[in-house]
Amino acid sequence: MKLKDFAIERYFAKYEFSAKYMMSSSDCDGFGMDEVLSLASTSEKADWLGLKLGYTETRGSIPLRKAIQKHYQNIGLDEIIVTSPGEANFILMNVLLSKGDEVVCMAPMYQSLYQIAKDLGCRLSLWEPIEDEGAWHYEVDSLNHLISEKTKLLIVNFPHNPTGYSPTKEEQLEIIKICRKNDVYIFSDEMYRFLDHTQRARLPSMCDVYEKSISLWGTSKTFGLAGVRIGWITSKDRDLLQKIENFKDYLSICSSAPSEILATIALNNLDYFLQRNLEKIRHNIELFKTFQKKHKALFDFQAPPASSTAFVRFHIESSTAEFAEKLVKETGIMLLPSEAFEYGSEHARIGFGRKNFEEVLSVLDTYLSGSEKP
Ligand SMILES: Cc1ncc(COP(=O)(O)O)c(C=O)c1O
Repeated sequence: MKLKDFAIERYFAKYEFSAKYMMSSSDCDGFGMDEVLSLASTSEKADWLGLKLGYTETRGSIPLRKAIQKHYQNIGLDEIIVTSPGEANFILMNVLLSKGDEVVCMAPMYQSLYQIAKDLGCRLSLWEPIEDEGAWHYEVDSLNHLISEKTKLLIVNFPHNPTGYSPTKEEQLEIIKICRKNDVYIFSDEMYRFLDHTQRARLPSMCDVYEKSISLWGTSKTFGLAGVRIGWITSKDRDLLQKIENFKDYLSICSSAPSEILATIALNNLDYFLQRNLEKIRHNIELFKTFQKKHKALFDFQAPPASSTAFVRFHIESSTAEFAEKLVKETGIMLLPSEAFEYGSEHARIGFGRKNFEEVLSVLDTYLSGSEKP
């Protein structure tokens, strides 16, 4: 299979380590090793110091799977496979889909979530959002028109990158109802799980509420530990999990042993990471609200209900790709344009997970005050 280039990742590759300011990152600042290790229990500390750098279990070490299991209602240790998030997605698409299969997926979306299906020769139907002055909503009812008995898979990502949309529990149940009626699998990317900003009840993981689903979560976004490179798939479909394990033998075989311990410590201290990341994201959202009031004519924004990102519409004459290119050259601020999401040329993603966000806004404010109308 030949894969089309991954536009978001190519854009980040160009600027992530050269631009002075990152305004569109979806992850939060990475925590330090010292801080993570300071949270370790006595046995985790002993595991870390006594670690032998051999292979680990293909499905993930037992302490790690036990730590993962705690965050689901009803998932067994043999219903979990640890892989990096991208690998999990790649394997799943390969074991589940064949040329000609019909797939429904959200748009815009993190490219690998639909590109692999597309390049395998599947037919994609897009579940597109309604945009209302900066607020985004996916109408569940429209899935009734997109999904039929011919559909093999629905791919969703809640909380959603880039819009920050997340359905209510009732909407989640409605999605399941439509899929169950048509015997459709759901692949639920939950990389931004628990990054909720409203008082609404937390959404259960799809794998806990739908028997024909596969959920994906990892340490990159919720925890601020992207460098750990650990993710995991959870599902009630044990045959499918076996196929995923068999496929993994051809790729990484197993995860990095030190990373498994760091991920175990993180999962056993979820609230520590979550509280710090949510505080920062919410603070930055408030700063951005104020910034938007000052620059209303330039872009629309409404605080998203969840996630670490927002997708804002710019009211400018140039495309957002041109604006972003000019911005990074003249200020060092990297902004991810919607062209990287193959979603027109009028939006850009904003990332709220970085502590220098206020400084970035101040640089942008000075630039906008001084520059001609973009
Ligand atoms: C929705 C979604 N899924 C998966 C991933 C991949 O996660 P990672 O970068 O940790 O491989 C990302 C990363 O941005 C993402 O936004």
